Amino acid sequence: MKSTDKTKNTFAITTPLYYVNDLPHVGSAYTTMAADALARFERLRGKSVLLVTGTDEHGQKIQRTAESLGRSPQAHCDLVVPGFEALWEQLDIQYDRFIRTTSRRHEYIVKEFFQRVWNSGDIYLNQQQGWYCVSCEEFKDERDLLPGNRCSVHTSKEVEWRDEENYFFRLSRYQDQLLALYAERPDFIAPESRRNEVLSFVNSGLQDFSISRVNLAWGLPIPVDPSHTIYVWFDALLGYVTALVDPDSDPTLENALSKWWPVDLHLIGKDILRFHAVYWPAMLLSAGMSVPGGVFAHGFLTKDGKKMGKTEGNTLDPVELVKKYGADAVRYYFLKEIEFGEDGDFNETRFINILNAELANDLGNLLNRTLNMARKYCGGCVPNVSGENLDGDNLLKGMSLDLGDRVAGFYEELAFSKACEAVLALVRAGNKFIDVQAPWSLYKQGQIESVEQVLYSVLESVRLASYLLSPIIPNISNAIYQQLGFSIDFNDRVTVNSLANFADHAAWGALPANQTLGEPQPVFKRLELLETVPS
Ligand code: MSP
Repeated sequence: MKSTDKTKNTFAITTPLYYVNDLPHVGSAYTTMAADALARFERLRGKSVLLVTGTDEHGQKIQRTAESLGRSPQAHCDLVVPGFEALWEQLDIQYDRFIRTTSRRHEYIVKEFFQRVWNSGDIYLNQQQGWYCVSCEEFKDERDLLPGNRCSVHTSKEVEWRDEENYFFRLSRYQDQLLALYAERPDFIAPESRRNEVLSFVNSGLQDFSISRVNLAWGLPIPVDPSHTIYVWFDALLGYVTALVDPDSDPTLENALSKWWPVDLHLIGKDILRFHAVYWPAMLLSAGMSVPGGVFAHGFLTKDGKKMGKTEGNTLDPVELVKKYGADAVRYYFLKEIEFGEDGDFNETRFINILNAELANDLGNLLNRTLNMARKYCGGCVPNVSGENLDGDNLLKGMSLDLGDRVAGFYEELAFSKACEAVLALVRAGNKFIDVQAPWSLYKQGQIESVEQVLYSVLESVRLASYLLSPIIPNISNAIYQQLGFSIDFNDRVTVNSLANFADHAAWGALPANQTLGEPQPVFKRLELLETVPS
């Protein structure tokens, strides 16, 4: 997506701020892995990157969960948050800021922002009547409810009738400005289907929405009337702004906006699109702030073809999954197998088959067999061939010349699956190439120069593939780079960002001739289906 201004050397991206009513689920992991892959890609090509994640801790849902567990809301949040931090570490998520909406700094930002909106005359008191889904933290239209007054997202939950005085935000005032924004910046909302959904929603007429609650203690007080607390979504969206304040600066809007605002991209799931693509830009316009670069809404994950949920008894625990199979496997499956933006499914047998076929066989074996041949025929070094001078008809070279650009284009569009496919095509061609060229026979026939050309081109293809996949499978890429004799660590974000030059590494021929190769070791061990992942 073009939200990234290519001339700019900074890139700020956010994940949603996750509710802490429960431990992280695979949906939260999915958004976060995608955000991390994109952040890593931008770092790889030299941008100064800020990846923001965090937790959304106020509101009725959290208060009720805490009550049901006999904890104070704050104690509950403090217990759950480390579970998110631990999962991000296990999944090799390199976030730069982790914002908790219960932090003191956030309260200052919310207060200042509220005041700006208040001064714009966009907040007023009125009576709110309607059906509320506590799980969504959202009022629902009666016509969207399922039989038995159940929410269409949280199908086992009944919505609750509310009739209370609330402060309202004058969303209706921003209808024309929002439509103008979507028209001027057609890439503001992606994918296209989501943009159309928002357009039809806004075109059908915007209604003001309530931004305060009475009888709910667990929230920030409305500055002009502390008998109300601020609606959790109004508060949570501002977490994106609080996160931008440098840790050693005062929490003021001025400081928050000085370097990273507007962020380039909010990455979210499709269920929270309206908040990000309609409410949020309107709130920002009211406060006199610029709007973000864009919003990308991905699809929903199912398990074995069914909706995931506790009531359905088929949740997928990301912690167990990553413990069992490792970070790279989980990252690869979700980003390669599911077209980002579409709904997708997790099935453990398919998971194992894909990883074995693509990472263990296609990629891992190619490196392994070629390294072994390089030891046998070339003294354990990269053959003395220069990538540039390689035989003009070399198939792998031909395929690789514009691969870096194509893959970069796919990352920019968040088309992770296409990025992986393009790289895999080279890897598969590498396997065929070596079978057809049969360097072992060339060696027997004394055609050493040809052996060297073949081995160089395959090793260089594996290097290029692992470089381009490093935002998705950093650990496998590390292992490959090490075995090729490099000392780059793709998990060292500072080094990757300052040393690597994307144009050079993403181009054919970066593997230096005569470089000493490392010990051949499997970069990805074949997986076995032992037992089902515990739900
Ligand atoms: N707290 C709000 C976000 C506030 S952002 C200022 C929230 N939190 S959430 O924890 O409920 O959801 C976080 C993300 O998980 C959302 O982007 C949502 O789309 C995603 N998913 C929840 N279930 C999912 C699947 N089954 N599949 C894919 N993503 C899903 O909403």
